[in-house]
Amino acid sequence: MAFSISQFDKIIDRTQTWSLKWDPDYMKERFNRTDLLPFNHAEMDFECPKPVINAIKRRASHGIYGYTLVKDEYYNCIVDWFNKRHSISYKREDLQFGTGIISSYRTIINHFTIPKDNVLILTPIYRPFIEGVEEYGRKVVRVPLFLENDKYLINFDLLERIFEKKKIKMLALCNPHNPVGRVWNERELRKLGDLCVSHNTLIVSDDIHSDLTAKDHAYVPITSISEDISNITITLTSPSKTFNLSGLKISNYHITNPEIRNRFYPIIDKKFVYAPNVFAITALMVAYTECEEYANLLTQYLDENYSYIENYIIQNDLKIKVIKREGTPTIWLDFREIGIPHDKIFSFLLDQANLISVDGQFYGDEGFGFQRLSIGLPRSIVQKAMQNLRIASDSLNAISNRN
Ligand SMILES: Cc1ncc(COP(=O)(O)O)c(C=O)c1O
Repeated sequence: MAFSISQFDKIIDRTQTWSLKWDPDYMKERFNRTDLLPFNHAEMDFECPKPVINAIKRRASHGIYGYTLVKDEYYNCIVDWFNKRHSISYKREDLQFGTGIISSYRTIINHFTIPKDNVLILTPIYRPFIEGVEEYGRKVVRVPLFLENDKYLINFDLLERIFEKKKIKMLALCNPHNPVGRVWNERELRKLGDLCVSHNTLIVSDDIHSDLTAKDHAYVPITSISEDISNITITLTSPSKTFNLSGLKISNYHITNPEIRNRFYPIIDKKFVYAPNVFAITALMVAYTECEEYANLLTQYLDENYSYIENYIIQNDLKIKVIKREGTPTIWLDFREIGIPHDKIFSFLLDQANLISVDGQFYGDEGFGFQRLSIGLPRSIVQKAMQNLRIASDSLNAISNRN
């Protein structure tokens, strides 16, 4: 059998590979230590699917890595993947190659908005969404999500008021939403999309996490809700999370409205904004055509990691609340009851639990008191991290009992 779930248990040393996450020199530079467990980046410590590795080796053995073409077969693999996995019918002409979601996101901001335009985001959100707007001199309009029964929801009353009051040029949507782990449902997407249609607002939807939704949470792309919504939507997707290919820098634009794509695609093509990476092309084609079972097993493994963490926190009575995860290879934890100031939680995890998390505030002020942990690691490392967390939390309880 080509794939087995036990492959995700394998520990692979990444310390000598210039990994952003594991490089000891970089860890030392940032934290003055090299023994930390990095749970910060939303990339995974799992080996890519074997067919992808083999295809890259075959391509590498050719020995010439000159400029490449992206041919129809490449795009047909994407059309088939979305059809088969998500029952979405894209056409070949809807698609255009990109070299990463965030570079594509920035290109869209640059092309479709002008300085001082308002771009609306639902916060807390993956930070490059904010930076990509502000650094181009556009204005970020933040609409905070609200927490109800450990689940984040959209405040549609507030959203409607904002749409009435301000001209919103673009909605930047993250679906599934990093860091809070929501997979937006059809009702929510319809409401969002209809608001954008009625206010002539363009939607850019970052769907990088679409393949890795939790059990019982199907990904719905906003472009699939109605023709009107599809006509104002640019969707960004990538195989990079699904097959752990982030270092290959690959993504795709999906635009169903011919007017939008006909004025956008030739420009990005002509200016050589996106020079396709030789190995990325090969990797995507093999991943999307031969490796769906890998994605299914990975999804299951991530669900099991999530359940392990949730159960561990409950069984050990740690004063941490787990926000229900519907998607993304991360978990969003509420530390507001743990008994230390919000701005000390990150360093508490670092110093007392040897854990690198991402401080919730990185995603906007609404993340204050929260931390995000990646769950794309072998189970034994997740277990070690949870033990560390329990020991750290016990020491905190011992101090507060003494006082
Ligand atoms: C929501 C989201 N978008 C984009 C990215 C980065 O994508 P890329 O590396 O293709 O720019 C990430 C990475 O974690 C992400 O979580």
